Amino acid sequence: MAGPGRWLTRILLGLVGVIVLALAAIYVMSERYLARTYPVREVAITLPSDSASLARGERLARLSCYGCHGETLTGTVMFEAPLVARLVSPNALIAISEYSDAQLAGLLRYGVRTDGTSPMTMPPIGMYHMSDADLASLIAYLRTVPKQPSAPLPSTSYGPLGRLGMLAGQFPTTVNLIDTTVARVGADTAVLGSRQGEYLARMICTDCHGAGLTGGVNGPAPSPSLSGALGYSPTEFLALLHEGKPREAGKAIPNMSEVATHTLKYLTDDEVRAIHAYLLTVPATGVPMR
Ligand code: HEC
Ligand code: HEC
Repeated sequence: MAGPGRWLTRILLGLVGVIVLALAAIYVMSERYLARTYPVREVAITLPSDSASLARGERLARLSCYGCHGETLTGTVMFEAPLVARLVSPNALIAISEYSDAQLAGLLRYGVRTDGTSPMTMPPIGMYHMSDADLASLIAYLRTVPKQPSAPLPSTSYGPLGRLGMLAGQFPTTVNLIDTTVARVGADTAVLGSRQGEYLARMICTDCHGAGLTGGVNGPAPSPSLSGALGYSPTEFLALLHEGKPREAGKAIPNMSEVATHTLKYLTDDEVRAIHAYLLTVPATGVPMR
């Protein structure tokens, strides 16, 4: 009687051992991935101090920073799923005080910290396209916001599934998402004129709709390709981007409504019209609308 029982115990202990070893290996390899370093790049900028530039900087910050760092920029728990990860954005005003202007501009454009490591989900990948003048206005504005202490925040942590996702390339650090071989739209002086719609779409919509605006799972939920502005008329598009209203009344678009009413409402009517006109030119490829 003792024989089979002993074998079963050995097999179970063996299995537990294999699982523990696998988890340890995933942990060690993912820590190594998070510690990987890349060339640090600085972007030389000169901060403006005129009120028009500071106002533009504030609007750019509303469009690009507050959504994740919270209404007072003091940090939030952005995402939490058991076994996957808890992602916490830090107090942005305290975090930026550890960066010089050129270092911060480098972090926001290329996704590499001053120690060479790269954050998760930060910066939004479209910031790569931001012009030097807009980066300077954004940073100038952020430097004027008085620092406030954070409410106590938990720290970012990764569970076994999140770590496995990192190793499988499903959950990359930001430097791996920014394609620096593509020409930066913001390097063209036409960004405030004929290329304004393209500039804003590449800078803002790409964070969830993907680098090519072709949809997929990039942000909190699957998103559609934006080709042809999805059949929205300019008026319907304004109601979507400013009030979160879908073209089809009653359709559930909770994620898009949330980002519209908290963030995209800071786009001017002219900017929304320019984005719409640009999206009409995006060829029909990618994930279709639900
Ligand atoms: C999509 C969400 C998101 C957006 C948008 C975002 N951040 Fe962050 N930010 C985060 C997260 C998450 C972290 C922590 C990342 C980590 O430690 O891996 C972070 C970290 C930071 C850090 C600390 C970097 C370091 O040294 O560890 C700074 C500085 C920062 N953000 C500034 C900004 C500014 C300025 C903007 C607007 C231009 C911005 N963030 C927009 C999510 C975001
Ligand atoms: C924070 C992530 C996020 C950002 C940023 C974002 N979107 Fe979306 N969008 C989504 C998601 C997710 C959906 C799918 C519906 C849902 O889950 O809410 C969506 C759906 C849409 C739709 C289809 C609505 C429908 O009728 O089904 C349009 C059009 C759209 N987005 C346009 C834009 C434009 C233009 C921008 C940039 C100015 C933008 N989105 C920025 C996440 C985002």
